[in-house]
Amino acid sequence: MRSLINWSWRGLLPITAGLWLGIGTGFSEQGVDLIPRVPPDQLAEAKALHNPHSVTPDFVENGKALYEGKAFCSACHGVDGTGKEQDVRTSRVGTPSPRNFGDAAWQASRTDGELFWILKHGSHGTDMAPYLPLYLTEEEAWQIVTYIRSFGKS
Ligand code: HEC
Repeated sequence: MRSLINWSWRGLLPITAGLWLGIGTGFSEQGVDLIPRVPPDQLAEAKALHNPHSVTPDFVENGKALYEGKAFCSACHGVDGTGKEQDVRTSRVGTPSPRNFGDAAWQASRTDGELFWILKHGSHGTDMAPYLPLYLTEEEAWQIVTYIRSFGKS
């Protein structure tokens, strides 16, 4: 909980508020997506996290099954990972849309550890909830992270 309390959206607000109000700020929505979601005081630690499991075809396939099945990720991020075809309109006005995993610039801007951190803690102030340890084991989370990486490759 401490991390949530410590973290503030202050840094993002001027940019995102400007976007939502339609005032040209010079930042695209993609630019906002590239700003790290892990709070600054935990970013270095999150970036350094590595998948301790070996990545086999089965490992990735299980990530896909979880993404589309029990973990319900595809309901918001889409089966195709673009976040555009979600079958549930979950995003509230004034909060970010589900990330487009097919965006190569976004893929390049994140380490696997940052994605794992998001699965553990969620993205505070958005509809991206924490999944560990209640809904996913650490191994399952790494499987999904590995699967998310496949959206960046055509
Ligand atoms: C209720 C809708 C919803 C569900 C279900 C959901 N997400 Fe998200 N997700 C979001 C939103 C909204 C964002 C954008 C948050 C932001 O901009 O900070 C997001 C962002 C993310 C990010 C990007 C964070 C970053 O660093 O840019 C990752 C990774 C992610 N989700 C993975 C998942 C995975 C994996 C699942 C399933 C276990 C999942 N999400 C389920 C709504 C959802």
